[in-house]
Amino acid sequence: MLISVLGTGYLGATHAAALAHWGHDVIGIDVDPRRVHLLAQGVAPFHEPGFADLLQDGVASGRLTFSTDPARAAEAEVHFLCVGTPQLDGGDGADLTALWAAVEALAPRLRRGALVVGKSTVPVGTAARVQERLDELSAPGHEVEVAWNPEFLREGHAVEDSLRPDRIVLGVGSDAAEARLRAVYCLVLADGVPVVRTDLQTAELAKASANAMLASRISVVNVLAEVCEAADADIERLTQILGLDSRIGPHYLSPGIGFGGGCLPKDLRAFSSRAAELGVDTAAQLFGAVDEVNTHQRQRTVDLACRLLADRPRGRSVAALGAAFKADSDDVRDSPALAVATSLAALGADVRVYDPEASRHLIGRSDLQACETVETACAGAELTLVLTEWQEFAVLDPVELGRVVARRVVVDGRLVLDPRPWTRAGWRLHALGRGEPARRVDAAARRAG
Ligand code: UGA
Repeated sequence: MLISVLGTGYLGATHAAALAHWGHDVIGIDVDPRRVHLLAQGVAPFHEPGFADLLQDGVASGRLTFSTDPARAAEAEVHFLCVGTPQLDGGDGADLTALWAAVEALAPRLRRGALVVGKSTVPVGTAARVQERLDELSAPGHEVEVAWNPEFLREGHAVEDSLRPDRIVLGVGSDAAEARLRAVYCLVLADGVPVVRTDLQTAELAKASANAMLASRISVVNVLAEVCEAADADIERLTQILGLDSRIGPHYLSPGIGFGGGCLPKDLRAFSSRAAELGVDTAAQLFGAVDEVNTHQRQRTVDLACRLLADRPRGRSVAALGAAFKADSDDVRDSPALAVATSLAALGADVRVYDPEASRHLIGRSDLQACETVETACAGAELTLVLTEWQEFAVLDPVELGRVVARRVVVDGRLVLDPRPWTRAGWRLHALGRGEPARRVDAAARRAG
């Protein structure tokens, strides 16, 4: 089937490459010529495990092409809208500028009976408005139909999530649209992936609600972590116990400096904003609180860092390990790691940052110094902060690192460090939610004899 994908960010580029992998002919359209140029040559414009191979295979097969010209999408039977829907400048709602631009560009070029499928995260009700606009703009009698097929892929797992999704949601208004989408996904469906057919608005809400649930879970666990700290309890054991309850499950229970990225924070705000518009104030209040708890984690980390610098951060040397919003990604959008590093720099600390993939985002910043290795970031540091859950940090040798820092004080903002070797190597290790870990490790060692 000939398919177009409008918008080639993480979502669109991965989806386009997955469609080509399944044997479809795919044209990816984007307004950014640089991105299109890279993709067309099989070069991944972002770090995403497995994506470069999938892209290169698609391009080499001749089934996957890219262009800035929306006219190239004209002959496609199915068009996926994968453009970004960022937070509005100066507001909590979603900015749909790119979505409407894609609809306007596509509409006059659509062939008879084309199916336009939204994948972007949008406020509920948008799909119906897209249908209205396409009816206005497309040629009379062309009977263009809109469907919504939300995407649940995570950065860092985008390829795996695309090729082996948990579920496929088909928001459709007709059997014909469902049949067309089933044909698009026939190879995945053959693997037995659950499919849920529903209406357009429920499909739109499915995505926003999934992100709101995940964000809420993280904020709940971060509140529990703060209570653990106050009660000198152990958040890791607590989440282990909670996760063993089959009704709760173990995922999204990692405490730390909070969630970030280009999706969870802005989708949560957009959901609150849309719920308020719909008159559902309780939803806006609940998700507002989830957002507030999340922002509070960043401040809590900055406060802890300041305390460990005797409340005199000015001129003090701080190593920030991690800039990406999560591991296995080079994305720094709304990154808690970068927010903490930036706040400490604003307080006058001399902050050196190392991230395995995201350091390039620091080029040109005068407040933060990008480093090429953990050791250079930590050289002479009076405080070390682990801010992104990279595996590289989890396996650091505390003895070796202890030789390069000025003071062996570390804040584990992601609970990735094993306290025992760090404490044995003479480090004071602080982790959000672990109470006073040194005391607990000492007590455990005493009990062990
Ligand atoms: C999120 C959703 O998980 C995807 O299902 C969704 O498709 C995507 O947004 C989107 O809307 O496009 P993503 O932004 O890639 O995916 O990131 P997550 O893996 O969900 O992590 C989000 C943030 O939460 C990260 O900062 C991560 O470090 C943090 N997190 C995650 C925690 O603090 N604790 C956890 O237990 C899990």
